[in-house]
Amino acid sequence: MINVIINADIKRGQINRNIYGNFAEHLGRCIYGGFWVGKDSEIPNINGIRKDVVDALKELKMPILRWPGGCFADEYHWKDGIGPAESRPKMVNVHWGGVVENNHFGTHEFFELCELLETEPYICGNVGSGTVQEMREWVEYMTFDGESPMANLRAANGRKEPWKLTYFGVGNENWGCGGNMRVEYYADLYRRYAAYVRNFGDNKIFKIACGPRRDDYHWTEVMMREAGKFMDGLALHYYTKNYERMGSATEFDETEWFMTLKRAVWMDELIEKHTNIMDEYDPEKRVALIIDEWGTWFDVEPGTNPGFLYQQNTLRDALVAGIHFNIFHKYCDRVKMANIAQTINVLQAVILTEGSKMILTPTYHAFNMYKVHQDAELLELDIKSPEYSIENESLPQVTATASVDSEGKIHISFCNLSPKETAEVECELRGTDMADVTGTVLTSDRINALNTFEDPERVTIKDFNGAAITGSKLKATLPAMSVVTLEVK
Ligand code: AHR
Repeated sequence: MINVIINADIKRGQINRNIYGNFAEHLGRCIYGGFWVGKDSEIPNINGIRKDVVDALKELKMPILRWPGGCFADEYHWKDGIGPAESRPKMVNVHWGGVVENNHFGTHEFFELCELLETEPYICGNVGSGTVQEMREWVEYMTFDGESPMANLRAANGRKEPWKLTYFGVGNENWGCGGNMRVEYYADLYRRYAAYVRNFGDNKIFKIACGPRRDDYHWTEVMMREAGKFMDGLALHYYTKNYERMGSATEFDETEWFMTLKRAVWMDELIEKHTNIMDEYDPEKRVALIIDEWGTWFDVEPGTNPGFLYQQNTLRDALVAGIHFNIFHKYCDRVKMANIAQTINVLQAVILTEGSKMILTPTYHAFNMYKVHQDAELLELDIKSPEYSIENESLPQVTATASVDSEGKIHISFCNLSPKETAEVECELRGTDMADVTGTVLTSDRINALNTFEDPERVTIKDFNGAAITGSKLKATLPAMSVVTLEVK
């Protein structure tokens, strides 16, 4: 029995919608073939942007999109990606497969994509190989309204009005692909670059500094001490990945299922410990923890370019997503944004494409089930779950989260991590007399169930009829290996 208590009258802060953000890099087939097919393509498009993808992502209410990288960001020179497409210079994408990047998707195309998706743009600037001037001019190009060299250049390229841009990253993984820097060095560099990331007119930039890799607590300590007052957010990157042997995305046994979920659960400890350090320097929680790269990382699909990071996606990935969402909610007073890596055809993608075909992954469906929590108030929830154990290792069998939205509806999401055991939940709903419960479920009969281009609906959201309320008690039977979201009203 899983015992849960939800206090509907005790709110623990707002779940920032940006926790449900995405990340799209010039990597493999994320941009080219994923978002962008070009205006002359036979694949239905709006000025070169795939229509099917836009429709699918709008359904998710995707709040924010990070671009252009990743490692690519610290190689990217934005002026190569403006002006007439045919005269844009080509470059080699050294990080990702050594392919030619023709720069046909650049700043204007990215903002058009965001407008179509009704999503906020989040741009990552180049510290590793770019200059302060280059970064400063990019911000001026995008946001300055008036007479200036960059605003005039933008107008000459067909866009008179500035765009609204709030989120800007000052470098990416500068401890690694973004320059192999020591934090002591990057902290000073951050201060210098960030000084020139200007607020033009009433456009106010939320500046995000490169943060730690996984459990590099020293990085967080030094950044907060030396540069905390110059930043609005600090970016943590953590992938659910076995660094010794990544393993297949689709062929795995229960031990690998378990170990993957355990690695996902580690996000809780990482956030807690980084947050504790941030709290020392910023007890008011002014600086946000931004988890702008997270998700599973497995071997590429056999026969595909190893530099393209193309992996399939199973029910296991959906559970990883649900586990992360529950953790992000728990720390919603500090975690204000998270961006899954990456939206299309790369790592833990929500969408896969093959030519004109498109499928939605189990991870897409998890995002869809959790979108009800966007901007809702987190409710106090206490859960006592039995352990799910394997080979002397254990995890809580069920993790959960609850929130109340602006219309007063309560949503409760559960992840049952056990691939064999159903979970009987008995939930006491305090502080409310709501009596009607409906729900949705994502599950399957196999741990590695997936959607393919031949069988695209294998893992999809179904109605859930396994919950009922009697008095103040909500009872639910969660299927093994499932994500369930209930709505109580
Ligand atoms: O998401 C793929 C890569 O992982 C990103 O480019 C980089 O920031 C990270 O190491």
